[in-house]
Amino acid sequence: MEIAQFRYMADNLAYVLHGPSQALVVDGGAVEDIREYIAARGLTPVLVTNTHRHPDHTAGTRELVAALGCPYADPDDALAQGEILLNNEAVRAISTPGHTMDSLCFLAPGFAVTGDTLFNATVGNCFTGDVEAFFRSLKTIMAWPPETFIYSGHDYVDQSLAFAWHLEPDNPAITAYEAKYDPALVRSTLADEFSVNPYLRFNAPPMIRLLKDRNLPVETEFERFSSVMRLG
Ligand SMILES: [Fe+2]
Repeated sequence: MEIAQFRYMADNLAYVLHGPSQALVVDGGAVEDIREYIAARGLTPVLVTNTHRHPDHTAGTRELVAALGCPYADPDDALAQGEILLNNEAVRAISTPGHTMDSLCFLAPGFAVTGDTLFNATVGNCFTGDVEAFFRSLKTIMAWPPETFIYSGHDYVDQSLAFAWHLEPDNPAITAYEAKYDPALVRSTLADEFSVNPYLRFNAPPMIRLLKDRNLPVETEFERFSSVMRLG
């Protein structure tokens, strides 16, 4: 299975996932680019869906669905479907509440579309206020294979690395991550995220030391995660 990334509205990222002939569009804001990509390859779009209902992610969806003449599934419908088959390979819709209650990730062989739940080098705002749900969602993601490529809903890499570096100036992985960053294809592996993303580093000894230095709770995993969330 392949994935193509399309930038729109400065830092939003849209995606086409596809096999040899069947395609799935997730957050279709780059309407014209997506239409061209699908037409140029002779792909059949089987579904358009969204990672969540925030307007910057649903932008263009109605137009794209009309132009492609294919079905639309809102995040609840996509979750109910569970799996979307593209040339007999499955893309799994996984509920990851926290940023919003309807937030989904789409997990495919080798990569995932993570919307505004997990970004490259940071996480989304916990707009629901349910930090425990957000923690469980991130734990779900953290259990995926470490080589999984993370394709997120926005390119916030520059400012996120600046914050990571502010917290951990002695972390050499941040420089390596920055060297690999390409605004033309924004992605990282889950292993990269474990090495730089402060919000996935609540079990990393340097992060635990930092939290202790600031007199923040570090007893349980959830306490450490909550403490990291309070650093921002
Ligand atoms: Fe959002």
